[in-house]
Amino acid sequence: MAVKPVCLFLLLPLLLSGQAKKQACLKSASTCSECILSGPQCVWCTDSGLKSRCHTLSALERAGCDPHHMYNPQGRVHVIRNESTTEPTAETVFPQPQEVTLHLRPGVSQSFPLSITTARGRPIPELKIDTSPVPAGVNITFSNIRHGNMPMEVNVVAGHCRTTSDTINPKNRTGPWSVHITSGSFSQSVNLEINVECECDCKRNREENSPTCNSHGALVCGSCECYQPYLGQYCQINQELSDGRDERFCRRGPNAPLCSGRGTCVEGDCVCHSQENPNERYKGRFCECSNFDCPYHNNRICGGHGRCECGQCICDNDWSDEDCSCSIDTISCMASNQQVCNGQGMCQCGSCRCDPPYAGPTCENCPTCLGPCQTHAECVDCRAFGTGPKKDRCEAECNYFILTKVESKEDIQAPCKMISHEDSCFFYFSISQTPTGTHCTVAATKECPQWK
Ligand SMILES: *[C@@H]1O[C@H](CO)[C@@H](O)[C@H](O)[C@H]1NC(C)=O
Ligand SMILES: *[C@@H]1O[C@H](CO)[C@@H](O)[C@H](O)[C@H]1NC(C)=O
Ligand SMILES: *[C@@H]1O[C@H](CO)[C@@H](O)[C@H](O)[C@H]1NC(C)=O
Repeated sequence: MAVKPVCLFLLLPLLLSGQAKKQACLKSASTCSECILSGPQCVWCTDSGLKSRCHTLSALERAGCDPHHMYNPQGRVHVIRNESTTEPTAETVFPQPQEVTLHLRPGVSQSFPLSITTARGRPIPELKIDTSPVPAGVNITFSNIRHGNMPMEVNVVAGHCRTTSDTINPKNRTGPWSVHITSGSFSQSVNLEINVECECDCKRNREENSPTCNSHGALVCGSCECYQPYLGQYCQINQELSDGRDERFCRRGPNAPLCSGRGTCVEGDCVCHSQENPNERYKGRFCECSNFDCPYHNNRICGGHGRCECGQCICDNDWSDEDCSCSIDTISCMASNQQVCNGQGMCQCGSCRCDPPYAGPTCENCPTCLGPCQTHAECVDCRAFGTGPKKDRCEAECNYFILTKVESKEDIQAPCKMISHEDSCFFYFSISQTPTGTHCTVAATKECPQWK
């Protein structure tokens, strides 16, 4: 048994190279497994209506594959045993978790946290992995090791699946393989069970005699696997009987028109009519759907912010509503103080609905609201001069600003000019917000009318 002591620090750079490389998806893939194995970023569309079903996620979105029809496994981690220690002693070193099962999609790494309880002040021990059971191409690395008490991360990634012809025993292709992480001072080892997913999981959900396949085949990952002697995308052609022109398979119901009146029946398959506008297409097995039969907004189908699927808009990420006319984005609702609708309303479909009495596109207009001068005048009056309606409550209500007196109003920029009704004198002040609090600068003398 080859036990490799692993130098943890040297392994760190490898994590970066473990990233999936961009490579083209096998567009001609005819099965899900073929597609998924052609690259970690490849997604299989289980909707057989698409011409090319193996693509990147964004390309399939553009091609109109419904998200429910996208098969894009990423692998998974299943923690089987994760017991915690009650009393860490100076002698034992305790790893957590103790048992983990990993299912890996080739090229997509999976990780889980591994915490190691050591006696206080003791460094994390050297870890050893016996990697002899796993085939070449499966890499196990650690990261985060230097971050004190943080759990380290164990990252596991598998390269390519070996071809079936390479391995007679299928277990040599997919595992499971058992790997142990040990240390001289561990009270127990960490056991990993590693599996590589070389086939689409949807293969397990075979629907025998599927109606989609005219009950002459099994539906597997969205494709028909026809029973003998049937053929065709939907197993609609009986090789033994058919003259190849069975029109039954081109009607949605017994009396329905051939291909919904929007296509031609060719050997039991509908070939939908094309439209003058090349972007407009009939779709579906009976040409019963189209991508142009959806609500319009601003003269654009689905508001220009979504695609049309069989009469329904599928809106882009930041849009909603039947016609995708409603933006979820709040940028157009942002007030000059960087608050959505000035904090005085709600942003709906990109426009503010202001709470009264606020108004305006970003709820910043309020003719009846008190300005800063009115808001603070009574408190300035009592704090600076001991006069005004708040003079008896000044201590309780007006301690929220720091007061600075200056000689005259000329020392204040753009001062508020307010009248104190008690003595009919004017006073001048300014209010500003700074990180240290609210500051008020006030002219020390009031300006009283001459006749007084
Ligand atoms: C194991 O359990 C601990 C709590 O005792 C938790 O913090 C930790 O995340 C668990 N580890 C895993 C891999 O789930
Ligand atoms: C595994 O590590 C080797 C270097 O030791 C690297 O060349 C290879 O690309 C890694 N495999 C994966 C799938 O990241
Ligand atoms: C396949 O696995 C068996 C054990 O299950 C092993 O003896 C054999 O060497 C492996 N063959 C290959 C080609 O890896």
